[in-house]
Amino acid sequence: MADQKPDVEKGKLSEIESHYRNLYTKEAVQYDATRFNHERGQHFNTKEQQAIHKLLDLPAGNTLLDVPTGTGRIGAYMAEQGLQVTGFDITRNMMLEARKLAESWELGNKFVFVEGNGRELPFPTASFDGVMSIRFFHLLPTPLHRPFVVDMWRVVKPGGTLLIQYDSALTGGGLITWPREAHRRLIKKHKPRYYFWPHQLASVFEGIPYEVHGFSVPGSRFLSAKGADFVENLVATGVKGFLANRVFVKAVKPL
Ligand SMILES: C[S@@+](CC[C@H](N)C(=O)[O-])C[C@H]1O[C@@H](n2cnc3c(N)ncnc32)[C@H](O)[C@@H]1O
Repeated sequence: MADQKPDVEKGKLSEIESHYRNLYTKEAVQYDATRFNHERGQHFNTKEQQAIHKLLDLPAGNTLLDVPTGTGRIGAYMAEQGLQVTGFDITRNMMLEARKLAESWELGNKFVFVEGNGRELPFPTASFDGVMSIRFFHLLPTPLHRPFVVDMWRVVKPGGTLLIQYDSALTGGGLITWPREAHRRLIKKHKPRYYFWPHQLASVFEGIPYEVHGFSVPGSRFLSAKGADFVENLVATGVKGFLANRVFVKAVKPL
């Protein structure tokens, strides 16, 4: 593929990968507690799990690869809905947390784990009915996305679904994303997140038929349930999904 050149990219990628492995090795035990253990986080987490399940649209018994699975917060939910989930991650400590969750939910062999790198998946071509990648691509500059997307697509069976979540550059028309990012960079001195722009879709998904879905709208939790449904439906499909809190790119592999 045109953009898999890559000795340079590979060098850069492996540095980025070891950076994240180190970061998440330390972060693992507090990952869920700092993000989802308050009312707003729990509410978002539950809505997100349900939205992903709906978008994947896979019947119980189908196989799903969750890459990266992290602490298993989405994978465990999918296993509970009857899917046969393989959690995959580069960081062992994150998967230890996922294992604990799987044990406490008594998921048994419905949720199993494999350690490795998401751009070199150790699975044969066409091995899963679904592949999902949630909260991952914001860690990588967009020119480095393609090798991951290509390998995820490779392991999807014909008729199966690839679902990738992005942080949109245009959430709330940009009025939310960019002040928040300025705060992160200037006050908190955090590294930049990598936001996804609509014009980047075509090169990252070249040769892959995709559709775009928006999930959750900034501030919608302050509306009535009916009001929230109304505004969320406005951005639920198509490129206007980039205005939502999260954007999902869904690709179904032709038979
Ligand atoms: C922000 S967490 C998200 C995990 C999970 N999908 C979720 O939604 O909570 C990002 C995860 O990416 C993993 N990761 C980073 N680089 C990776 C790579 N190259 N291959 C596989 N996993 C990777 C980290 O170990 C971490 O668990």
